[in-house]
Amino acid sequence: MDPIEQARTVYRENFTSISDYVDILATKGIDWGLIGPREKDRLWERHILNCAALADLIPDGATVIDVGSGAGLPGIPLAILRPDLEMTLLEPLLRRFNFLGETVEELRLEDRVQVVRGRAEDCDETYDVVTCRAVANVQKLLGWCTPLFYPNGRLVALKGDSVSQEISDASRRLEAGRLDAQVLQVRAHPEAEVTQALVITPIR
Ligand SMILES: C[S@@+](CC[C@H](N)C(=O)[O-])C[C@H]1O[C@@H](n2cnc3c(N)ncnc32)[C@H](O)[C@@H]1O
Repeated sequence: MDPIEQARTVYRENFTSISDYVDILATKGIDWGLIGPREKDRLWERHILNCAALADLIPDGATVIDVGSGAGLPGIPLAILRPDLEMTLLEPLLRRFNFLGETVEELRLEDRVQVVRGRAEDCDETYDVVTCRAVANVQKLLGWCTPLFYPNGRLVALKGDSVSQEISDASRRLEAGRLDAQVLQVRAHPEAEVTQALVITPIR
């Protein structure tokens, strides 16, 4: 099954909405320089399905902040897939913040998706879940994001092959903060590529 058909199965009644988002990424996202032109043919696989793979790690009805959202990844694919979530997209750069605001409006998600301009370390709200992809190494993420989910929430990050090394580099910080780190292999569809999710939770 090709990635679009996989996404159709995963997104069901929300497929039109995710398809509209892919069209925005493929046009304005590329024009504004937020998505590389070479990504155009792999948006479904490398961006939508990859981000949707985190959905099962987010509890029902959670408040979520997507730190360093960029063009809305993984926050927007998750918010479309999971209408029960209340999502905040956090992004410090003006052009990206503007793109997010216009995209959320175009997709009519503004009732439950908020766009905030800022850096994670300057936020003072707490959330059930912090998501992120391609923002920083584990050590930095812990410094910036722990106050956003501590003590009752979790951090859920898409991570590449360096995750084990990053966890080991951050071991002191994990221990001092009484935080547990787990790496899980996840995918949005049985035929989709497997991706790695790092889940950090406070030890009780
Ligand atoms: C490589 S991009 C990844 C964007 C998106 N998450 C994705 O996967 O396509 C990293 C993003 O993190 C943002 N960022 C960097 N430092 C940040 C911080 N301290 N707090 C919040 N966002 C930050 C940048 O502005 C940028 O949009």
